Amino acid sequence: DGAIRVQTIIDVAKRRGIPLPANTVEEMTQIIILEKPATLTTFLGKFAEYMHVVAGDREAIKRIAYEFVEDKAKERVIYVEVRYSPHLLANTQVDPIPWNQKEGDLSPDEVVHLVSEGLSEGERAFNIKARSILCCMRHMPNWSMDVVELCKKYRHEGVVAIDLAGDESLNCEVNPGHGKAYEEAVRCGVHRTVHAGEVGPPSVVKEAVEVLKAERVGHGYRTLEDQALYRKLLAQNMHFEVCPISSKLTGACDPDFTKHPVVTFRKDKANYSLNTDDPLIFNSNLLLDYSAAHKYMGFTEDEFKRLNIRSAESCFLPETEKRELLQSLYEAYGMIQSTPF
Ligand SMILES: *[C@@H]1O[C@H](CO)[C@@H](O)[C@H](O)[C@H]1NC(C)=O
Ligand SMILES: *[C@@H]1O[C@H](CO)[C@@H](O)[C@H](O)[C@H]1NC(C)=O
Repeated sequence: DGAIRVQTIIDVAKRRGIPLPANTVEEMTQIIILEKPATLTTFLGKFAEYMHVVAGDREAIKRIAYEFVEDKAKERVIYVEVRYSPHLLANTQVDPIPWNQKEGDLSPDEVVHLVSEGLSEGERAFNIKARSILCCMRHMPNWSMDVVELCKKYRHEGVVAIDLAGDESLNCEVNPGHGKAYEEAVRCGVHRTVHAGEVGPPSVVKEAVEVLKAERVGHGYRTLEDQALYRKLLAQNMHFEVCPISSKLTGACDPDFTKHPVVTFRKDKANYSLNTDDPLIFNSNLLLDYSAAHKYMGFTEDEFKRLNIRSAESCFLPETEKRELLQSLYEAYGMIQSTPF
């Protein structure tokens, strides 16, 4: 839901007769994007500019998923995990109904079905692999059981994990609703990641890892404020999903990239990946994230290869598919597979 083409939002609004504050891609882009560092809360408010246009619309949801795969293929990505909240795209069997929509007939369950269809059609058309992660929302603990059930139901249709997203700065305490869902995920072998330590304190990261049993941490920058916790996660090889441009624009990190937490992660040989987060809202793409790491943090091509391989090792594919993915990378990078990293 943060990786949609502006043109698609405009087309869908026109088809559905939903008025927009602007009708050209340029003007609408200016309304949606964050240009200057803001706060996480301001950033999350940006979704309200367009989510009411696409939510509840079957054709839009499937198209967005399909176009997403095309956009990733253009960025030369060969495997991607994309995440979204099924509830935030639905208009029935969701309480409260999001984005001031009228009750309709699109349930979170059908949303997952449509996204999965869009992604697999995209996979066939553009010859890359796309999997999805379903998000629980911090402020809606009563949706979380549904989310884990959808992860189980759609595990053979491309859903590989559960996530917990939303405003950490407003909801950083342990919530039993999420706890139960993550417990069920552990019980059923559903992979787990959690947005934590993006703007919230290190205690959120600790909770994510120790209570929710997260296998990866979304962002995790503020882990660095608790050295004992950080050392422990380093020793465990915990994977951090780092999003450079996002962290600058949401105000999560110092806008000076040379002081970015990933500089410390690199120095300490932590396990991390570089990700886009919400390219629509940041008016960005994956190349810009890698460029920022190259230009301002001095990442070299070899370091990019190494971190891409770590990312692949940390992905949520089943073992055999993971090995195939790694093999493709080794071949592309001119490495022999037995080279240990
Ligand atoms: C879920 O929680 C939200 C927010 O607290 C509330 O508005 C809604 O009615 C609850 N839904 C159910 C099914 O309990
Ligand atoms: C990074 O962490 C993942 C678990 O998230 C693990 O599978 C992978 O092996 C780790 N990578 C390295 C290089 O240790």
